Amino acid sequence: VSPQDLLITRNTSESNNLVSNGLDLRTGDEVVLFADNHPSNLAAWQQKGKRFGYTVKVVPVTSPHPGAEAVLRTFEAALTPKTRVLGFSHLTSTVGDLLPAKELCRLARERGVLTLVDGAQSFGLMDVDLADLQPDFYSGSAHKWPCGPKETGVLYVSKGAQGRFWPSVISAYPGESGLSATCEALGQRDEPAIAGFAEALRFQSRIGRPLIEKRARELARALMDGLRRLDGVRLWTHPDPERSHAIVSFQVGSLDPAKLQAALYEKDGIVCATRTGSDRPGIRLSPHLYNTHAEVDRALGGIQRALAQGV
Ligand SMILES: Cc1ncc(COP(=O)(O)O)c(C=O)c1O
Repeated sequence: VSPQDLLITRNTSESNNLVSNGLDLRTGDEVVLFADNHPSNLAAWQQKGKRFGYTVKVVPVTSPHPGAEAVLRTFEAALTPKTRVLGFSHLTSTVGDLLPAKELCRLARERGVLTLVDGAQSFGLMDVDLADLQPDFYSGSAHKWPCGPKETGVLYVSKGAQGRFWPSVISAYPGESGLSATCEALGQRDEPAIAGFAEALRFQSRIGRPLIEKRARELARALMDGLRRLDGVRLWTHPDPERSHAIVSFQVGSLDPAKLQAALYEKDGIVCATRTGSDRPGIRLSPHLYNTHAEVDRALGGIQRALAQGV
């Protein structure tokens, strides 16, 4: 991928919104979105659909992940001659479902539909090759898996989509060439953060993306194997490596996710995210390159203790 096709944005949310702001969609047009998208790739389109008169169709989630073929068939059935954009998450933040991104992009391309792949959870984790994936838009944040600073992110725009993509912020200090010359005149920027973003990527590139991906996967597999041995744990993430990656989401008995989170942090030094509500509630662990098998075991020990003693 050429730097000519990249914009340095503030985060994935902004990148996604630059797409929904930058495409000229009107009444009669339709956008198809995955239900498990982040609000920046779901509510953002819904809001703009109301404003500009286009329709938003939401593809429901099947959980646990039904496999790439079934996912493809569901999306295929949702596309119509009116569909202009297909937006989905490469790896969902909810339960870590890995979507068949390359195949979905191909399907959309064959129908003349633009694709927005939300890469917030794949960028910096997976060995993503955009030339192979062929999305029209791919978004990411520096502060997630790349371990960079906050307030920097990226948006890739394919050459084919660039002619249909309008800048939505027009200010001073554009880039010197490529897409940044026309679409990145975003005013004064946080240059140290942008330099930090570049350094974080350089650092990870020195380690090697395949190694990072392998390590995170290996830790997540060990975690899932351990969780499946615990009575009372309900794993929301599918253990099949074709359907998941390094985001592991699960429910521990009927324990309150926030109390469990606090107990794991205070007693075990383990940091997790929580998911409340009735849709696949529980906690989420996302092991990365810097984690160890000993930490996975410590997390499993803490969860086992919580199951036995409560929180
Ligand atoms: C899939 C996905 N998309 C978008 C975002 C938004 O990222 P940011 O807050 O960096 O804009 C997140 C954040 O959790 C996410 O998981």
